[in-house]
Amino acid sequence: MRTVISGGRIVDSTTTDDGRPADVVIDGDRIVDVVAPGAAPLDDSRVLDARGCVVSSGFVDLHTHLREPGREESETIETGSRAAALGGFTAIVAMPNTDPAQDSRIVVEFVREQGRRAGMCDVHPSGCITIGRAGEVLAPFAELAAVGVRIFTDDGNGVQDPLLMRRALEYGRDLGITLAQHCEVARLTLGAVMHEGACCSRLGLPGWPAIAEELMVHRDIELCRLTGARMHFLHLSTERSVDLVRTAKADGLPVTAEATPHHISLTDEMLAGFDPVFKVNPPLRTPADIAALKRGLADGTIDAIATDHAPHADHLKEQTLDVAPPGMIGLETALSVALTELVESGLMSIRSVLAALSWNPARIAGLDSRHGRPVAVGEPANLVVFDPSARWTVDRRNVASKSGNTPFHGRDLVGRVRHTVLNGVAVVVDGTATK
Ligand code: DOR
Repeated sequence: MRTVISGGRIVDSTTTDDGRPADVVIDGDRIVDVVAPGAAPLDDSRVLDARGCVVSSGFVDLHTHLREPGREESETIETGSRAAALGGFTAIVAMPNTDPAQDSRIVVEFVREQGRRAGMCDVHPSGCITIGRAGEVLAPFAELAAVGVRIFTDDGNGVQDPLLMRRALEYGRDLGITLAQHCEVARLTLGAVMHEGACCSRLGLPGWPAIAEELMVHRDIELCRLTGARMHFLHLSTERSVDLVRTAKADGLPVTAEATPHHISLTDEMLAGFDPVFKVNPPLRTPADIAALKRGLADGTIDAIATDHAPHADHLKEQTLDVAPPGMIGLETALSVALTELVESGLMSIRSVLAALSWNPARIAGLDSRHGRPVAVGEPANLVVFDPSARWTVDRRNVASKSGNTPFHGRDLVGRVRHTVLNGVAVVVDGTATK
């Protein structure tokens, strides 16, 4: 049976304006026709109502923690990929800090297979940079690259040893993979629970200084200059980090960067009530940092919006600030936070937000043969349909993720996913997952 996405307007990587009204016809896993509104025959077709909606290529998240294997109390690949589909994502890169970590072929293949079984979005495991993410011995890059791993990271930890990082970049360059760094000089953040600044002094809490991120961004830009390897900077959070990446790009270095929805919308003041839901690594920062991240997204210094979806079960997260693990969920709110913060404010167009959610991350993850494609005849049907003006209130009790640690509980946001199509199959219809 064919599927027709009817009544929407297409905004994709080839669009230059607000998009064009068109109906999209899907057969099998491909787009077989793009026609004038109302021109597609509807008999024997499933119709997805897209009136008032944008139709685009599905989103790609460079930064999802799925917790399986090892921490299934907080999330499973099935629940996490369902949350992703509800958020409009058709592909996600699974972070490697599972237990066991994703440093071997068997774990990586397990994660990919569980993703396939869930069938809600394409799950692409990242690989560790070092065995067990312990920062001592390089993981078997070639073995992991041979089974399709394209992004390597020790996320959750930064690689502290500059020699090890240099070698990782040299091997990475030769294998054509991308190294993704969690930028944190650990010696500078020992015991830290929040951004080092006025708020943290007032609360009497140990601080995580901006310099701990910026030193590693700077070091890795220089290692990138030395080795010529591709480097991606995860969850950048400070003004100076954005400036460093801007200069590195102007120098022609092959660096890319991401920012999270929470770092462009929430400040360190959120911690004033000592609620661990706002504890995250890197920490929420200042209004000046938020403004710089937004400028970076608007001028293309920051290529991607990535969620750092980090589910933690209530019994883990609801502890005192010093003990609670850092992290917040984000897959189901990413689009809405981006539209609210960036488009409603007039800073960016819908199209440029879609670039940061779809085709830029698809390219960085090496998934651009199937995701982030134009909405055109012959292309894979990995699509999202969203209403950019729908208003809704986030409720932690209504999330598909197994954990409810959203920092946006109770917030009014604009923009909501209506349908998600994965490989031609509607996995979300009218805001509800079909399996
Ligand atoms: O806040 C965070 N949570 N930052 C990270 O880098 C890791 C993540 C997690 O795995 O919970």
